[in-house]
Amino acid sequence: MIDPRPAGIALRLSEVRRVLAITSGKGGVGKSTCAVVGSLLLARRGLAVGLLDLDFQGASCHTLLGCTPGVPVEDRGLLPLEPAPGLRFATIASFVGERPAAMRGAALSEALREMLAVTRWGPLDVLVVDMPPGIHDITLEIARLVPGAVHFVVATGSRVALTVAARLLQYLRGSRLPVAGLAGNMGLRTGDAGLADLAVSAEVPYLGMLPVDASLEASTGHPGRLVLTPFARSFEPMIVRAVGG
Ligand SMILES: Nc1ncnc2c1ncn2[C@@H]1O[C@H](COP(=O)(O)OP(=O)(O)OP(=O)(O)O)[C@@H](O)[C@H]1O
Ligand SMILES: [Mg+2]
Repeated sequence: MIDPRPAGIALRLSEVRRVLAITSGKGGVGKSTCAVVGSLLLARRGLAVGLLDLDFQGASCHTLLGCTPGVPVEDRGLLPLEPAPGLRFATIASFVGERPAAMRGAALSEALREMLAVTRWGPLDVLVVDMPPGIHDITLEIARLVPGAVHFVVATGSRVALTVAARLLQYLRGSRLPVAGLAGNMGLRTGDAGLADLAVSAEVPYLGMLPVDASLEASTGHPGRLVLTPFARSFEPMIVRAVGG
């Protein structure tokens, strides 16, 4: 049977000017922090911003935003939540709360298709997608269902993060998917060169290094504080460049 959802998804996203997928391959390098802080910064600049948490098994955007996502209102689709002014937000946490969403690959693809098919974003300047770690079903489905999505790759300067980021960049390039650039996070003085070199060899823009910021933990759950952190100050030019501003 033909799945009608890909066509429906294209319609749902037809008023979204740009989809920016924050991705890394490696876990724990700061994707969700970049996705949430980036969305808040762009919304603060007056853009119409959506944030979609696609890390079904490790959903954390709502924790960073400090909201308990309710079940979305239904009106010709599911309306995104609005956890901060100008920010529309959809997450699996609306449906599973803090229960574990253990799923096999096929169920992950189904959940992704359902969310994209039912969420009524309306007109957006940018839809920021918080991707899960790894290169798997969600990565492949996004590439297939949202081929215009621009990938924003985050890595730390550690050799393990670099090797995984190199593999992801190889996949993105090999699949001819657009890449906004490579951003370094949790910079230590020794890490920067490896990231800049990786960007050159992968032929993607190097967006710079974000500092280790001890204030992030205390700002977690407080959108107003997150946008005032040193991390946010360093990240703003990167995210603005990534959305073509
Ligand atoms: N620049 C930074 N300085 C200090 N701590 C940071 C920085 N960036 C991220 N962190 C912290 O590192 C932890 C992991 O960050 P985050 O959850 O954003 O990573 P992730 O890549 O989304 O992880 P996952 O792959 O599990 O989804 C969080 O506790 C976050 O506050
Ligand atoms: Mg995350």
